[in-house]
Amino acid sequence: MVSDSGMRPSLKRFFEEKSLLIEKILDEHLPREERFPQKIHKAMRYSLFSGGKRLRPLLVLECCRVCGGDEEAAFPAAAAVEYIHTYSLIHDDLPCMDDDDLRRGRPTVHKVFGEAMAVLAGDGLLTAAFGALTSIKDSAVLKRVLSELAKAAGSLGMVGGQTLDITSEQEIPPETPLEEYVFSIHLLKTASLIKASCRIGAMCAYAKGAELSAITAYGRNIGLAFQICDDILDETGSKEETGKKTHKDREKGKITYPLVFGLERSRSEAARLIEEAKESLRIFGEKAEILSSLADFIISRTY
Ligand code: IPE
Ligand code: IPE
Ligand code: MG
Ligand code: MG
Ligand code: MG
Repeated sequence: MVSDSGMRPSLKRFFEEKSLLIEKILDEHLPREERFPQKIHKAMRYSLFSGGKRLRPLLVLECCRVCGGDEEAAFPAAAAVEYIHTYSLIHDDLPCMDDDDLRRGRPTVHKVFGEAMAVLAGDGLLTAAFGALTSIKDSAVLKRVLSELAKAAGSLGMVGGQTLDITSEQEIPPETPLEEYVFSIHLLKTASLIKASCRIGAMCAYAKGAELSAITAYGRNIGLAFQICDDILDETGSKEETGKKTHKDREKGKITYPLVFGLERSRSEAARLIEEAKESLRIFGEKAEILSSLADFIISRTY
């Protein structure tokens, strides 16, 4: 599924080099398929190892490096963010949520293993994320990372955003401007975990002050742009390229950027956010070349 559309050569090399490493890290912190009860481990691994872009763990590793840290110190956190992201996708696809039957180019977990097992596979991955974090050696870093991830993934972050997304299908609170509502959905359901991935990477490098603030601004802005592009791809992309069904959001009554602002303004808003994100990288100088290319990739991607 992963193609190199819209990627600079240095970024393509980075993806190639880091993707094998990330697969290994993801494998290490999860029970093997043969472990009892095999059924749940099979379902968890089925969804995890079906080829996502691995954007969030890549951000953890690269933000750690840019802030002068030792990449290895960030491995447990890289696994944790991808476990949480994958759990969120499994639950997002359930019939009671977005009701999707294709994900990462394969039938969704509930289609293959049944709904109960999909709920449990998500629960298992979420819990495994916090288990993986216990491998962080420095207890002060562990505490910061735990608190960051719990907030970003929970009801003040991703789960809160999913709540706004799902309830918007039935009712939007009166007097809430749609522009503000869609912004809140995107900030919480997607940008919070992407921003946390960046911050956690920086925390593993003991970043503070101006560097942590720069990484925070970068993460928030690429996170928002990422979801705007996801909405755009739902309208303009293909099942073959994205690995998931497209042209579904309008049918489901979702509040998306293209619905509220139109395609053109959505594209220009995403481009503006990416420029802002790149601007915040200036304090890192040339060291931030990969993060800058990753930002460009977020809006040029077709998957
Ligand atoms: C899809 O995320 C869900 C959103 C937050 C928009 P990705 O596009 O990162 O999914 P994978 O991990 O590559 O499958
Ligand atoms: C999902 O947003 C965001 C999550 C937190 C999982 P979408 O529902 O738009 O993601 P896709 O399009 O199904 O990947
Ligand atoms: Mg959804
Ligand atoms: Mg969905
Ligand atoms: Mg979508």
